[in-house]
Amino acid sequence: MNSYIYYNPTRLVFGKDQLPSLKDELGVYGKKVLLVYGGGSIKRSGLYDEVVNELKNMGAEVSELSGVEPNPRLSTVKKGVEICKEKGIECLLAVGGGSVIDCTKAIAAGAKYDGDVWDIITLKATPKEALPFGTVLTLAATGSEMNSGSVITNWETQEKYGWGSPLVFPKFSILDPSYTFTVPKDQTIYGIVDMMSHVLEQYFHNAENTPLQDRFAESILLTVMETAPKLIEDLENYDLRETILYNGTMALNGTLQMGVRGDWGSHNIEHAVSAVYDIPHAGGLAILFPNWMRHNVDTNVARFKQLATRVFGVETEGKLDKEVALEGIDRLSSFWTSLGAPNKLANYKIDDSKLDVIADKAMARGEFGNFNKQNKDDVLKILKMSL
Ligand code: NZQ
Ligand code: ZN
Repeated sequence: MNSYIYYNPTRLVFGKDQLPSLKDELGVYGKKVLLVYGGGSIKRSGLYDEVVNELKNMGAEVSELSGVEPNPRLSTVKKGVEICKEKGIECLLAVGGGSVIDCTKAIAAGAKYDGDVWDIITLKATPKEALPFGTVLTLAATGSEMNSGSVITNWETQEKYGWGSPLVFPKFSILDPSYTFTVPKDQTIYGIVDMMSHVLEQYFHNAENTPLQDRFAESILLTVMETAPKLIEDLENYDLRETILYNGTMALNGTLQMGVRGDWGSHNIEHAVSAVYDIPHAGGLAILFPNWMRHNVDTNVARFKQLATRVFGVETEGKLDKEVALEGIDRLSSFWTSLGAPNKLANYKIDDSKLDVIADKAMARGEFGNFNKQNKDDVLKILKMSL
């Protein structure tokens, strides 16, 4: 395996009825709080009232930023930065899914930066400081609750980029599975596809001697695949929500990338697609990832075969290794569509008219992918396979 440093300072507060710990977890960072949330799901579920009540108990002076979009936008980040600077905000609390958390991370860094926060997102500037923040997670998907990454869209220029900094690990994240009961079926499915994609991005690496990393990754995939079909038929089942929530966090909190360097090419292409068409992140992944796999299968057939046999139960007898590998990829895609995820860009009414624009956006930071480098031609091929 590769040499590595593992660092993750986020305090995970997991389980039922953990909200009262907010007072201790957030209280140490100050009383002037910016509460960040999305389009209203937390008001409908009643979580908003509970959170505001806890903040009151803490004696907090609360400012609010609501309406954070799925695929959070730079304009909203800027609004948050402005509030922080105007009101002398001391700490932030994100209540929502990955979009709310990612937006909060950008605000936290932007509030301590003198220039345009877009400089940080485009990696032109490195944050030197950030406001502290915590999260109350309401959707199992991105892992943003326990990692230092954030993805922001500049809708005016149709650019969507990931950035990260050790300064934007959440100080704490409260994960109560019952807060995810109200996540509708389609978002539940997207979350499942996203967490499985995160595992797969890290499974496709070129490091050698990674038996434990491989089995950690496979165990998450197997657990999610065992749980997901039951969950989408029983959305308020605590045990199933708990299992999925735990898996989503473990899929992208750094554990799986100890000693390996994941690929992240499918994510890069998906971010370019959703920068142009504003589709759900994991809807895009369900379409693109299997085609990235088919396009890159020859890079390391043995690794794809291992996935096919260990996770998808593909029989090997009488088959070439590549046939086994391809059958595994087909089974992954069929699993996602069996849940209700899309498998073609046409499902989002995306045709071939902007493939070149998307490919250029995917190439904005140059050739990408750690398992196998992708150039514009590769991206166009994957997009065409996905139509
Ligand atoms: O905005 P509200 O009203 O809260 O509704 C949201 C939103 O419409 C709703 N929702 C969330 N919790 C709910 C709920 N509805 C009912 N009950 C609840 N408990 O779900 C919708 C989607 O929310 P969003 O936060 O956008 O979803 P997700 O967590 O999948 O985040 C997606 C974003 O994260 C980025 C994606 O690119 C995308 O922008 N990613 C961030 C990563 C990271 N920071 O590590 C990694 C990922 O790969 C990903 O790229
Ligand atoms: Zn993702």
